[in-house]
Amino acid sequence: MDGTAQLTARPVRAFAYDPSSAPGSPHARAVAVLDANWTGTSTVPSRGLYPHQWSWDSAFIAIGLRHVAPLRAQTELETLLAAQWGDGRVPHIVFHPSVPLDAYFPSPDFWRSTTAGRAAGAPRTVQTSGIVQPPVHALAAWLVHRADPALSRARGFLARVYPRLAAWHRYLLHRRDLGGGGLVSVVHPWEQGMDNSPCWDAPLSRVAPAPARSFRRADLAHGAPEDRPTDLDYGRYVRLAADYRDGEYRDGRGAFAVEDPSFNALLAVSEHALARIARELGATGTARHARAERLTAALVERLWDPAYGQFLCRDVLTGEAVPERGVTGLVPLLLPGLPREVARALVGTLTGPHFGLGTRTRLVPSHDLLGEAFDPHRYWRGPAWFNTGWLLERGLRLHGERARADALRTAVLELAAASDFAEYVDPYTGEACGATGFGWTAALTLDLLHDASGEDAALRG
Ligand code: SER
Repeated sequence: MDGTAQLTARPVRAFAYDPSSAPGSPHARAVAVLDANWTGTSTVPSRGLYPHQWSWDSAFIAIGLRHVAPLRAQTELETLLAAQWGDGRVPHIVFHPSVPLDAYFPSPDFWRSTTAGRAAGAPRTVQTSGIVQPPVHALAAWLVHRADPALSRARGFLARVYPRLAAWHRYLLHRRDLGGGGLVSVVHPWEQGMDNSPCWDAPLSRVAPAPARSFRRADLAHGAPEDRPTDLDYGRYVRLAADYRDGEYRDGRGAFAVEDPSFNALLAVSEHALARIARELGATGTARHARAERLTAALVERLWDPAYGQFLCRDVLTGEAVPERGVTGLVPLLLPGLPREVARALVGTLTGPHFGLGTRTRLVPSHDLLGEAFDPHRYWRGPAWFNTGWLLERGLRLHGERARADALRTAVLELAAASDFAEYVDPYTGEACGATGFGWTAALTLDLLHDASGEDAALRG
């Protein structure tokens, strides 16, 4: 497909943007979204589509919430970490007992954490899923602390979350290094968070789908089918999760294991944050910074592809790189210790024909604009998401790309407000897809309004 022709055919719309916090402003509307999604102990990503607590959503939500409700931001993370398993894993969903079983699938009776997860130390009093999501939590905890250090110290916030965060990272580094090269593997596309990315198509094709009649999707009641994964992909997601559950959530190589750039980059950034937290608590943090640097080096050694000018996923079962350009391969720009030529090449790829930032797109598409699998509306196969926009805005700023970071910041702010805080948007037109009133879209809007310089998030060693 000719990208230039598409630019002419589908111009990016400009939106009026009001930077104040007056009633009706984007700031006030973002706060209202977070208030509406607050349950008393945590924030749902969306009332309809995702009515429970999600792990990486909560981390991003806390990063925004810290500016307007620091106590709630602390509580958000503490609620999630209270559901941690004995082996250290932080589950990707913590279920609200008051929400009907059929409101979301897979529901607690599918995961059966209190029985199938017993050997791995699942909590007894709360129901959770058994897979994980990207480790943004230590970064979030550090940023939440920084927003109100007096409140944080008075409540002993960091002292309480630190051992749990340390156990979480230990779980990932020790139980999930399935490739043996110092990087974490995800064992389900939902763990990586970009569920339906074309990066998973080849590794997922080996998984026999669960029969369509063996489960009932709840997501299609809230999202347009063309914005959501297909039934065939859902069947594969269900099979992988059921097999993991039936093996009592024991870790080892199953039918799907992938080393992913974004997941590992977020772990490295969080490891830097954990070093800051350790220092605040009176330890040195040096070993943690060193571990973050080792992770960064392993990422470059194992997943960097100079010919692509970006990081690629690695299929652990075949040992091969996955030749697909997902936005995941750009997220390591967030790393402070990235070699200069790698950072420079990433900026080139981000702004070049495959992602088009600043020319064909204002927000970063989730997949290669020129790739065969690109679809501007379907879940993680092309639309732009606000969390990856935030991560790359912080990354551009960290590496001295101020003008590009400023433009991306403005685009995130304008498109979030104009789309009614959509879950994701068409990268060309800004049209809303998925849910609206989405938690992290509102939260990251607040963060970009309050922390324009990104200084807090720049975790230089
Ligand atoms: N994001 C997935 C969903 O759509 C699973 O966490 O339900």
